Amino acid sequence: MSLVTSTEMFKKAYAGGYAVGAFNVNNMEIVQGITEACKEEKAPVILQVSKGARAYANHTYLVKLVEAAVIECPEIPIVLHLDHGPDFETCKSCIDGGFTSVMIDASSKPFAENIEITKKVVEYAHDHGVVVEAELGTLAGVEDDVKVSAADSSYTRPEEVEEFVAKTGCDSLAIAIGTSHGAYKFTPDQCTRNEKGILVPPPLRFDVLEEVSKRLPGFPIVLHGSSSVPQEYVKMVNEHGGKMPDAVGIPEEQLRKAATLSVCKINIDSDLRLTMTGTIRQFFDEHPDKFDPREYLKPARANIKETVRHKLRDVLGCAGKA
Ligand code: G3H
Ligand code: 13P
Ligand code: ZN
Repeated sequence: MSLVTSTEMFKKAYAGGYAVGAFNVNNMEIVQGITEACKEEKAPVILQVSKGARAYANHTYLVKLVEAAVIECPEIPIVLHLDHGPDFETCKSCIDGGFTSVMIDASSKPFAENIEITKKVVEYAHDHGVVVEAELGTLAGVEDDVKVSAADSSYTRPEEVEEFVAKTGCDSLAIAIGTSHGAYKFTPDQCTRNEKGILVPPPLRFDVLEEVSKRLPGFPIVLHGSSSVPQEYVKMVNEHGGKMPDAVGIPEEQLRKAATLSVCKINIDSDLRLTMTGTIRQFFDEHPDKFDPREYLKPARANIKETVRHKLRDVLGCAGKA
C-alpha cells in the first residue's frame, strides 16, 4: 500500500465510533515506535510533521522515513500530514513534496481572513489529490514556540462552522473545546485535586462539540492538544533528574467519549515526548557509564510503541480497524 489520504479513514471512523491517532514524528525512532504498534494492532494511522519538525529533521528525511514505514507496514493505511501549516507556501511545499494531507492553521486570523487563506490552500490541495484540515477557535498552550495563554484561547463558535466549511471546502475541522497543547494544559488553580493529590482538569466542552456536530452532520472533527500526560512518565522524569511539577493532560475517558462522537482524528505529541524523555532519563541515571545512542534509543522506541498501543486500544478505539 502507498500513502493514502484520510478520506476513507474518516468515513470509517465516523461510522464506527472511533478516532484515528495523529502522532507527531521528528526522527526514525518515533516513526518506528508508532508504526510498529499500529502494524501489530492493525490500526490506521496519521503521521504528522510540524514546521518545527521540518526545520529540525529536514523535509526529505521525514518523507523518506515515512515512506520506509509504508514499505515495512503494507497492511495498514498511513497518511502523511502537515501539522499546523502556518501559510500557503508551507502547505504548497508539502503538497508538492509528497504529503497526502495538510493542515492550514489560520485560526489566529479574523474569520474572513481564515476563510480566504484556507480556501486558497484547499483549491491547490484538491487539484493535487491532497486533503485539508482547517481550524476554528484557539487552543491554549505552546506550538512551534508560539505561546497562547488560557485567557487568549477561545472555544469554537458553533454558529460559524457551517459557513466556514461551505466557503472553504475543507475536508476536516479542528475545533477548540478545552484541549490545549503541551504538558501543562491547565494551571493548578484551573483544576481540582483528587484524593491522591493528583490534579483533575476541567471537563471538555462536549456541549460545543455536540452543537458543531449537529450543524455539520457526518463531517470529521479533529481534536488537537489531546495528550493525557501519563503520570507514570511525569514521575519517571521527576525521579531521574527532571523537573515537571504539575504537568497535567486531558483525561483518557473524555478522549474516548469524543472518539465515539464526531471526532475522527486525535492529535498526540507530548505523550510521546514524555515517554521518550522519561525512558532516556532513567537509562542515564541507571547506566552513567553508557554512551552508545542505540542503547538508550532502543528502550525509548520500545516504550513509545507501548504508549501508542495503549492509545490505539484504550483511548482511540482504532485497534483492528485497518
Ligand atoms: O501542536 C504542536 C505539536 O506538538 C508540534 O510541536 O511545533 O514543537 O514540533 P512542535
Ligand atoms: P499535545 O501537546 O497534547 O500532544 O498536542 C499535540 C498536537 O495537537 C499536535 O498538533
Ligand atoms: Zn496541534
